[in-house]
Amino acid sequence: MAPFVPRTADMRTLDSSPISSDRPAGRRRTPRIGIGGLGYVGLATALGFAEKGLTVTGYDLVDRLRQDLRSGRTNLAEPGVNGLLRRVVGLGRLQIVDSWQSIADDSEVIFLCLPTPRRANGSIDLRPIVRGAQELGKALRSVRGYRLVVVKSTVVPGTTEKTIRPILEKSSGHDARWLGVAANPEFLAEGTMLRDVLRPERIVVGVSAQKDARVLANVYRRFRAPRIVLSPRGAELVKYASNAFLASRVAFTNEISRIAEREGVDVDRVMRAVGLDSRIGRRYLSAGPGFGGSCFEKDVRALVQEVERMRLHPRILEAIVPSNADQTRHAFDLIQSAVGPLRGRTIALLGLSFKAGTDDVRESRALPIVRWAVGKGAQIRLHDPRARANFQRLLGASRARGVNRVRFLPSPIEAVSGADVAVIQAAWPDYLGFPRAWVRKMRRPVVVDLRRALPPSVTSRGDLVCVRLGDGTSQPALRRLA
Ligand code: UDX
Repeated sequence: MAPFVPRTADMRTLDSSPISSDRPAGRRRTPRIGIGGLGYVGLATALGFAEKGLTVTGYDLVDRLRQDLRSGRTNLAEPGVNGLLRRVVGLGRLQIVDSWQSIADDSEVIFLCLPTPRRANGSIDLRPIVRGAQELGKALRSVRGYRLVVVKSTVVPGTTEKTIRPILEKSSGHDARWLGVAANPEFLAEGTMLRDVLRPERIVVGVSAQKDARVLANVYRRFRAPRIVLSPRGAELVKYASNAFLASRVAFTNEISRIAEREGVDVDRVMRAVGLDSRIGRRYLSAGPGFGGSCFEKDVRALVQEVERMRLHPRILEAIVPSNADQTRHAFDLIQSAVGPLRGRTIALLGLSFKAGTDDVRESRALPIVRWAVGKGAQIRLHDPRARANFQRLLGASRARGVNRVRFLPSPIEAVSGADVAVIQAAWPDYLGFPRAWVRKMRRPVVVDLRRALPPSVTSRGDLVCVRLGDGTSQPALRRLA
């Protein structure tokens, strides 16, 4: 028989017959879903399927997390998640179980949603997913009937086939007749998790057997999105290529923003014109202090590591992270130009999360800004509507020197009181009015807007000097100040 060659296809055109053969012919039954790992991605996946009417069983190693989820509680700061969780748990569509065995027994399609954290050299740490695959494999030993294990975690190309499949086969004692292995990356962004999971822009699956493509077509048949069927390696590469491309767009825009400042023009207006070209598109063209978050830098580094291992020299990919670091240093320069020497100055830093709308502080540019400012002898006053506790922990763990000069304030007006400059690092709506009362509390009425988030009604008010990153037209204001 000719080997199955995956290709780009609309999975709806593929036969979506049930996986178990004990069903009456002609009736299409949606397979029962198992989710291993109920962190951000696992929970989103579980909620997405449960909301679409599938029966989902979820397991996570952490007892406390299981207990909370079972009673319909999560501390994820994502709009709509708590309500949906309570509903699907209440309806019995999502069941939280206490072992891999229950997942293996009850579910026909099992998604591995385990973390793949970054190691010091930039590569990914496969230990959590390897352990999960071993446990699941052991649990599958006693199971009769075909099971499809789907890797949803972000893993470098080849991992599903070269690492996960052999582990599953060895620990379960099953071969490809009883065990399918596939890749199916997610594209969730924080703050829009439910929208992204319920209305994905595309569904990408990587399979090595046509049967598995059919199973996944059936699993996703209630989702309306273009479907792309590739090999597991192809699907894994789609995830890395997507994140690296988005990160490179932001880094590129940031480089243009530095040019725009020198040229005395506004990067927003330039990039809006650039993005009107339908070949380019308008999104991910906003300049800022450098991208943050748990994915962009981690994924770009992992891809670079992987490609270098192949002795290819990916010049563009290699430039993304250093270019991003340059932009953060550029943000330092902008703050410095607004206040002069930092020793003895007070900086109010508004917004500590890596972007507005989340309490996540991973790779937030707020940390390098705080470290730099306290290192230069400044006092720093911090505010964030949601990320304060996470940032406090991050700062503690970073062992930054001079943290005695850092204060967390409960409101923006208290944060800006006595400040020589207010720096907007994340564009929370709370900051965008920047009322006159705040300006009156400041020692000097200067704002450095790293997100260009303040509207013209504020920046043109006349009671404050606003320096906008990437906006060369805003910088003469600084000279007037001097
Ligand atoms: C990202 C991807 O968007 C998502 O598809 C993937 O699954 C995970 O990584 P997320 O990390 O939630 O999602 O954040 P995103 O909204 O993409 O922003 C990443 C960083 O880039 C943020 O720091 C954001 O402020 C910055 N950014 C984004 C810009 O500076 N300019 C832009 O135009 C867009």
